[in-house]
Amino acid sequence: MPRRMMIAGNWKMHGQRSDLVFFEQLAPHAATAVAAGVDVLICPPATLLAPVAERCANAAIFVGAQDCHAHSSGAHTGDVSAAMVRDAGAEYVILGHSERRADHGETSTLVRSKAQSALAAGLIPIICVGETREQREAGEAFDIVGAQLSASLPADAAVLVIAYEPVWAIGTGLTASPSDVAQMHAHIRTQLPDPAGTRVIYGGSVKPGNAGELMALDDVDGALVGGASLDVDPFAAIITAAIHGCAVR
Ligand code: 13P
Repeated sequence: MPRRMMIAGNWKMHGQRSDLVFFEQLAPHAATAVAAGVDVLICPPATLLAPVAERCANAAIFVGAQDCHAHSSGAHTGDVSAAMVRDAGAEYVILGHSERRADHGETSTLVRSKAQSALAAGLIPIICVGETREQREAGEAFDIVGAQLSASLPADAAVLVIAYEPVWAIGTGLTASPSDVAQMHAHIRTQLPDPAGTRVIYGGSVKPGNAGELMALDDVDGALVGGASLDVDPFAAIITAAIHGCAVR
């Protein structure tokens, strides 16, 4: 059975209750997508998880968090556990995003602990990997991503999603070329316990203008979209590109 595709929006530190009308506008696009083999996911900030999950309960829109703590509860001021994220109505959680690795010093070992905790709470982890510009220019991209993967992947993950997000392509308007993306996704797949069944999605300045060629690549199972997920029109155009990509797989 072919893998379903996934278009995921990472809202990062954007979004308030006044933005929730987004979900009514997105719902018809998501309904079309799900019927065509493309899942649609939005990862709002933690403050919006519960209201977004309520709005999406009857829509074909999955909800995810952007992080969770490795422990299930305890004295961790300001943190949110995987069980809390699940309790708020989320089904997915982004882990190891390069902004968390950079801003909070998150290591792959920590990402693996968080992924184990997420799986135990019934969440599907979306584990992010990607090289910096310096690492790519030094010819180290495959080794860096391989090392991140082997240290971040939980041993017994039945279901997870991998997001390849080259750090230099995030929020810069630069995207990896289709052939670079295809090569890296194929490389990632060789290291997965379930290569054929695991979704590997691409992130880094995905926009309506480049989504068509990226979503048509065999090994690309969707996109993790930052800036272009904040408005319905560009996000819906990326969903449409994935529907077309899905049809030619
Ligand atoms: P942009 O699409 O804004 O480059 O962000 C990508 C990203 O980091 C998604 O997680």
